[in-house]
Amino acid sequence: MTSTLRPISGPDELDLFNRLPYVLNDEIAADLAAGRRRPEWLWLALRGDRVVARAGWWSRAGDQHPLLMDIFDIDGDVDDGVRLLTTALAAVVPSGATPPEYGRFLPPDWRDHRRTRQPVEDRMEALHRVGAKLFVERLRLEWRRGTPIPAPGGRLAFRPVRDPDELIALMTLVLDGTLDAHGRDDLTRMTAEQAAREQYRQELARYASPHEWWRIATLPDGEPVGFVIPAHNGYNPIIAYVGVVPAHRGRGYIHDVLAAGTSLLAAQGVPRIRAATDVGNVPMAAAFARAGYSTFERQIEMIWQ
Ligand SMILES: CC(C)(COP(=O)(O)OP(=O)(O)OC[C@H]1O[C@@H](n2cnc3c(N)ncnc32)[C@H](O)[C@@H]1OP(=O)(O)O)[C@@H](O)C(=O)NCCC(=O)NCCS
Repeated sequence: MTSTLRPISGPDELDLFNRLPYVLNDEIAADLAAGRRRPEWLWLALRGDRVVARAGWWSRAGDQHPLLMDIFDIDGDVDDGVRLLTTALAAVVPSGATPPEYGRFLPPDWRDHRRTRQPVEDRMEALHRVGAKLFVERLRLEWRRGTPIPAPGGRLAFRPVRDPDELIALMTLVLDGTLDAHGRDDLTRMTAEQAAREQYRQELARYASPHEWWRIATLPDGEPVGFVIPAHNGYNPIIAYVGVVPAHRGRGYIHDVLAAGTSLLAAQGVPRIRAATDVGNVPMAAAFARAGYSTFERQIEMIWQ
């Protein structure tokens, strides 16, 4: 039997869409209500009344086009996934545009068991067949209330950011030698200054949480060493960005900078703080571990070029 490929008709079909389990299912109704998702971005492949694949896209509230493909499940064969993606991508992505990246949350040990590995490999194969390739695997990290935060070493002072240009200048320096895949990719297409300005404008400036939380770390004489951007992303308190400038790397300053950002959010009594870093960003992953963050999930990101 061939499958029917279509978007859901509206919120009344969310139960059908959510027949395939995924950690984001509980958020979809609120996302639809808040304009972060649209019914025409939530696609189903149905055989009879059985959901054999589904795909969904997300944006910031009110965006005209989706920013991320964050739902893709296959409960049939890989061909069902390929057919759904082919049809849905043509409808959701403006013609001539590159599809937005695909992101998938996975258990930290997903590779260790065939039961968790096979569905990931099936999804990745279907995505390969419609032109996507693996970009990076990331650690999703969480600090939970009550976890001790290492005391600051006393080597650095912290103050709020004076103006956007000061932060953008430090973000520009931090991109030099970064191990972060997105940062490195940006640098193949633009200068460090352009990439920093873009990240500031597209991401940091848009956080609705107070920008007064942002901290610049300095030596006692006032020389900036790095920065930390604690924020709230609408779902959770987060460490949105953190960095140490190249001239001061390798002295463990990241531990103090991260502890300052974590303490600032923890002092508000929040139940958890979320963060993420690339598997390959070893010094950053080590800093999160030392600050009391544990890896609760991993994330695969695939892109079209
Ligand atoms: C990741 C980062 C914050 C680490 O800061 P740091 O204060 O130098 O960290 P540490 O002093 O703990 O470094 C630990 C080790 O990693 C090495 N290291 C740190 N950053 C490195 C980098 N970008 N490339 C290669 N090695 C690096 C250090 O030299 C040190 O090596 P050693 O133990 O042999 O001396 C800093 O490299 C940075 O700002 N990177 C770019 C921005 C970034 O990735 N932010 C995180 C986004 S989630």
